[in-house]
Amino acid sequence: MKILDTRTNDLFSLRSQIIDVLRKCELRGTYFTGESSAAMVDDWLTRNNHSPFYFVIDGTGDVVCLVVTTKCSKSRLELSLVLTDPDKQGNGYARYAISHVIATFGKHKEMILDVSEYNSRAISLYESLGFKEYGRFSKMIRMQRSLKA
Ligand SMILES: CC(C)(COP(=O)(O)OP(=O)(O)OC[C@H]1O[C@@H](n2cnc3c(N)ncnc32)[C@H](O)[C@@H]1OP(=O)(O)O)[C@@H](O)C(=O)NCCC(=O)NCCS
Repeated sequence: MKILDTRTNDLFSLRSQIIDVLRKCELRGTYFTGESSAAMVDDWLTRNNHSPFYFVIDGTGDVVCLVVTTKCSKSRLELSLVLTDPDKQGNGYARYAISHVIATFGKHKEMILDVSEYNSRAISLYESLGFKEYGRFSKMIRMQRSLKA
């Protein structure tokens, strides 16, 4: 598998594949955007160095996992979306992608994310990667992980 991001790659050639993954997630009910998938993907593809968009492609060149980051402040980066193709889950793609973001984003002091308290699969993934709960709101858990070695 390989990970690409908008800091160093022109990803527009993979735009339709990324939109297909999102649409598949919506059809299967694993993720709901609430807005146009295409518009959302275009926003991600134009993300800058401060809050890159990452995705993983598998050995056959298919887009399998999407990770969107948002810069909250000079020291804080938010993991605003993590999504794996429903047919490709359980193969370590999200773990690989998040580990890569953690390893390459040392200039921020901490990474935060919000996850539904019902999403036990995502929670166990985040906990195993060192994220810890530090707050709750509206059935969501806010988690944090230091990026300092
Ligand atoms: C959460 C999600 C991103 C995980 O993606 P993934 O590529 O399948 O994750 P990985 O294969 O890297 O698995 C990582 C961990 O997830 C958990 N996990 C994976 N498959 C699981 C399953 N079938 N049952 C329970 N936990 C599972 C395990 O903790 C696993 O750890 P392990 O590597 O020690 O087995 C994916 O399930 C998904 O896209 N869900 C829908 C969108 C979503 O909920 N995103 C998170 C919003 S905050």
